[in-house]
Amino acid sequence: MEKLLVERSGPLRGTVEADGAKNAALPIMAACLLTEEESLLDGVPRVTDVEIMLNILRVLGVECFWDGDTLVIRPGSYTGWTAPYDLAGRMRASVCVLGPLLAKQGRARVPLPGGCVIGPRPIDLHLKGLQALGAEIAMDHGDIVAKAERLCGNTVHLAGQFGSSVLATANVMMVATLAEGTTVIEHAACEPEVMDVANCLIAMGAKITGQGTSVMRIEGVGRLRGTRHRIIPDRIEAGTLLMAVAMLGGDVLVRGARLDHLHAVVDKLVEARVSIEPQDGGMRVRSTRDLKGVEVTTLPFPGFPTDLQAPMTALMSISHGVSLMTEKIYPERFMHVPELKRMGAQISREGPSAIVKGVERLSGAPVNASDLRASAALVLAGLVADNRTEVFGVEHLDRGYAHLEHKLVSLGARLTRERSS
Ligand code: EPZ
Repeated sequence: MEKLLVERSGPLRGTVEADGAKNAALPIMAACLLTEEESLLDGVPRVTDVEIMLNILRVLGVECFWDGDTLVIRPGSYTGWTAPYDLAGRMRASVCVLGPLLAKQGRARVPLPGGCVIGPRPIDLHLKGLQALGAEIAMDHGDIVAKAERLCGNTVHLAGQFGSSVLATANVMMVATLAEGTTVIEHAACEPEVMDVANCLIAMGAKITGQGTSVMRIEGVGRLRGTRHRIIPDRIEAGTLLMAVAMLGGDVLVRGARLDHLHAVVDKLVEARVSIEPQDGGMRVRSTRDLKGVEVTTLPFPGFPTDLQAPMTALMSISHGVSLMTEKIYPERFMHVPELKRMGAQISREGPSAIVKGVERLSGAPVNASDLRASAALVLAGLVADNRTEVFGVEHLDRGYAHLEHKLVSLGARLTRERSS
């Protein structure tokens, strides 16, 4: 087990680059199962979730390896159709092999995702979509077992209680690429990561239109080919870096940060008195730490992303006045709040909202990261807190941020990693 030792730091100065987006890379790696030909993926981040997906692909019989920074995926005539529990059970995103396996092998067995620290995460929309295209679905020993003799296009409405679903849209879209006829996905997720999956599939020969809008149309084709694709930059990592500079002060160029992916975030940071402007293939962020409280509601894209809710709540905890954070995607995603409170943050919960009264100073403490984005929030809080903060649960950070601590250190932040007993 490891922990991060975080010291009060800032201001941050220099240039840093966002890695490729984990949440685009994972379904795109799964999409490579739709062809027997080799695909080359650039910009895949070296994070634990990617390693888990690679191991799932290998168990399925797919040859995968890194050639420098390029991920090479060679499905060949792989025959596997079961994602094993010991791997898939560690990562909910493994559900995105369900669609490609069903489409290519005619059957798929994937563990039903279990409980999750960020709240309930059902998969009914995935199953509804696959059934609409002709899959027969059963539950067996904790696994989803999907089978289909023939997959046919259909109109699928993918709206859930909390809006559209990113991975259900990806799953249904991937099946539809090889289904007979035309599929229309209504209430499709518009997230940039879904667009990236669609663009990669199009490069593989799929016929898709409407990506990035709420209605997508997919005409099935007989086969897909391999491709070379560069993953889009990680808007969540980029947003986390923007927030780090906002909180610690300074002047930093975040390369890869795209305004079209981060409008809602940039709007809120500017309202909080942070200066942000597009520059040199990224965004230049400047802050004097004189932050003003704001009201934020997380929503599907182009709204404020739930994956930046935790870091933004950390930022609110040192902003002047009262801020309000309302979580509309995962109303229970507030595990970081008690930890921030241990550092002196003044936060009260009311249902899906956190009311944050800004304080002058946070104070360092040992804290436990419960999930990926909570871990980033606690690192940022530690960097503005007096005394040392010890962040435990660093394995969560490693699931989705490639080298976040090294990037922060390169800008002048003071944090180190240590083995914890
Ligand atoms: C993706 O998860 C991301 N994961 C999540 O990032 C992200 O928080 C989420 O989208 C929302 O943006 C990956 O891309 C690997 P959803 P996904 O289906 O697709 C409900 C991170 O930290 N829902 O879009 O699984 C669901 O409960 C992770 O990087 C249903 O009701 O999320 C939620 O309220 C965490 N039925 C809402 O929809 C379903 O069948 C959106 O979830 C599926 C989802």
